[in-house]
Amino acid sequence: MTLTASQTQETTTREVITTSYILEDSQEPLPRPSPQLKKNIFDNFSLAGKVAVITGGSRGIGYAVAECYCQAGASVALIASNAERVEQSAKALRAEYGCKVESYTLDVAQPAKCDEAIAQIVQDFGTIDIFVGNAGIIWTDGGIISDAGLNNGIEKWRRIMEINLNANYYFARSVGQIFKEKKSGSFILTSSMSGSICNVPNYQTAYNASKAGLKHMAKSLAVEWASFNARVNSISPGYIDSGISDVLDPAILAKWNSLIPFGRQGLPQELVGAYLYLASDASTYTSGSDIVIDGGYCSV
Ligand SMILES: NC(=O)c1ccc[n+]([C@@H]2O[C@H](COP(=O)([O-])OP(=O)(O)OC[C@H]3O[C@@H](n4cnc5c(N)ncnc54)[C@H](OP(=O)(O)O)[C@@H]3O)[C@@H](O)[C@H]2O)c1
Repeated sequence: MTLTASQTQETTTREVITTSYILEDSQEPLPRPSPQLKKNIFDNFSLAGKVAVITGGSRGIGYAVAECYCQAGASVALIASNAERVEQSAKALRAEYGCKVESYTLDVAQPAKCDEAIAQIVQDFGTIDIFVGNAGIIWTDGGIISDAGLNNGIEKWRRIMEINLNANYYFARSVGQIFKEKKSGSFILTSSMSGSICNVPNYQTAYNASKAGLKHMAKSLAVEWASFNARVNSISPGYIDSGISDVLDPAILAKWNSLIPFGRQGLPQELVGAYLYLASDASTYTSGSDIVIDGGYCSV
């Protein structure tokens, strides 16, 4: 049997739809429409009218991102586990930028609390446009079969995986549904260069594994969520002077500086341009990417 031109066209379209992984649950014909972007690039970087959630937003990198998002016009929900500190941070941002900023106190290792927080944020802000999964902790016990590693290992390994990796899965379940309904959204995960390289002279296998997991979680969700136009990316900072590493032996910090081509740690403010790019309409075709910001460390 010979197919007519319109039958061939129809068959091809149907095949494209059923074989395209980005349109698994959509009948939208290809190509999809392009976004309506502003002519001026700076206008596309604006977050005016957007709602951003930042875990670990009370200090360090998360606070710098929150400050940047306030400057760009967003309303911001900060999540952290220390109630006093996260509310103080929200208060400081409200006072300086006059935008809506609320604080939420929870341990992100508890899935039910993550669900509750997202529901409360939607009630307080109306929606969520941007989610930054940034809360994280480090491993300080050295090799997994050192004395400290053996003594504390199982509990600490699980805790690192819960906070650094699993929490972002808990949040992705509820935030993904919001993004699916609104057919847009940007989900950003703070991974680390430790997800690609192994830090020396300190051993921190649990941390490195959690961050490698995050990087691939971002790529995987980017594919899963493309059908509803939500974007998922990760950022991999190198050594950043946020205070997180202050507990380490100064000899380790000195060795790190000698291994970084730039010869110094970065500032949290040196990361925020990338967080703004990924949150905004400047990056409407960026998904599944990992942005490494490390003073050249991974290039050596
Ligand atoms: N600094 C670096 O060199 C570097 C490099 C690469 C990647 N990173 C990653 O960047 C992210 C931020 O790091 P940072 O340097 O800004 O660290 P930081 O200054 O120690 O801040 C960590 C943030 O996470 C929150 N947090 C920790 N455990 C939590 C929990 N169980 N529940 C809720 N919130 C929790 C903390 O708030 P509370 O104290 O209130 O809980 C704080 O807001 C982390 O994921 C880290 O792994 C950092």
